[in-house]
Amino acid sequence: MTSSLVGRFAHAVVVWQKSHGRNSLPWQNTRDPYRVWLSEIMLQQTQVTTVFNYYTKFLERFPTVAELAAAQPDDVLALWSGLGYYSRARNLHRCAQDVVTQHGGQFPQSAQLLQTLPGIGPSTAAAIASFCFSERVAILDGNVKRVLTRVMAFSEDLASGKNEKKLLAIANSLLPEKDLTNSMPRYTQGVMDLGATICTSRKPQCLICPVQVLCQALAQGNPEKYPVKTKKLKRSVEHLSLLWAQKPDGSVWLERRPASGIWGGLYCLPVFANEESLLAFLPGRTRSRVQHLATFKHVLTHMDMHLSASITKFSAHQVMPSSHASLSGRWVLPDEWKVMGLPAPIRKLLENQQGQQVSNAQRRAHGGV
Ligand code: ADE
Repeated sequence: MTSSLVGRFAHAVVVWQKSHGRNSLPWQNTRDPYRVWLSEIMLQQTQVTTVFNYYTKFLERFPTVAELAAAQPDDVLALWSGLGYYSRARNLHRCAQDVVTQHGGQFPQSAQLLQTLPGIGPSTAAAIASFCFSERVAILDGNVKRVLTRVMAFSEDLASGKNEKKLLAIANSLLPEKDLTNSMPRYTQGVMDLGATICTSRKPQCLICPVQVLCQALAQGNPEKYPVKTKKLKRSVEHLSLLWAQKPDGSVWLERRPASGIWGGLYCLPVFANEESLLAFLPGRTRSRVQHLATFKHVLTHMDMHLSASITKFSAHQVMPSSHASLSGRWVLPDEWKVMGLPAPIRKLLENQQGQQVSNAQRRAHGGV
């Protein structure tokens, strides 16, 4: 790598970020590590536009790390409901507690120390340290990998940890060297912005790219060839049957999922491996009144879930059979489940059905069938 490239790349990114980068996202224009940390955790595996509302609501409810540390785990999960990857919410809560109990309520000020906290990996630690403390340390998320592998025509396979480390060393060597207080936050945001808006995986906009004259992949005429990564994510398919038991007052039976595994720690309709085991679980008189809803697909990054719900009416005093009457299961009225931590597809399912029940009731009230 030539020494001129190093300084020129960082400079071009910093100058471009000022005028063309994203500068009014809700988590920008602050050096408060609590806010930056929260945004970085939410932005892992989640799109910027999805994070907007969650971020604002979360901060309204928990304006400080101390308030988050003191929260009930269920309240944290409820605010996370719909964002997915719920281990992030559990780690978030643990991390806030560690900051309060082990660091006197202040986030540590280096990437190295930040990484010792739950849920903070090397790239997130680097983002917080560079945004808040101007530390000269490189992030390496998906967008940044794409930009750097193209600029450097880095053709080694990122499926290997050894090659990822090589790229990280290159990323660190490309960092700004002057005026770190201003340039580090600007540069960190700039490489992310370049990857998100210009150096996209398909059809990159090289003509308006601020580093086009430095880009070795563009000089070769094949930027889309990078990054090279052979190991494709293996997607799996899962079929689940959901028991939707409802009482005359409209309450539904919800139970807490085990802490590990899918939807860990969230409240959910009881889950069965298939329809047979769901039916076998129900008492005979209830079984004959089950209504099966059409199967629907919920797509996650690593899995396609095919969900089938079976609705059954319980009478006012009927109890849930014991194997599912766990301590964490109970009848929950709509006003309550609306503010609980439910998996997104379960919430959608309950809300759709509730909407239908309301419109059926309105039709009946107006003389329809
Ligand atoms: N993804 C991760 N961090 C981000 C940030 N600060 N802005 C936009 N997208 C991001």
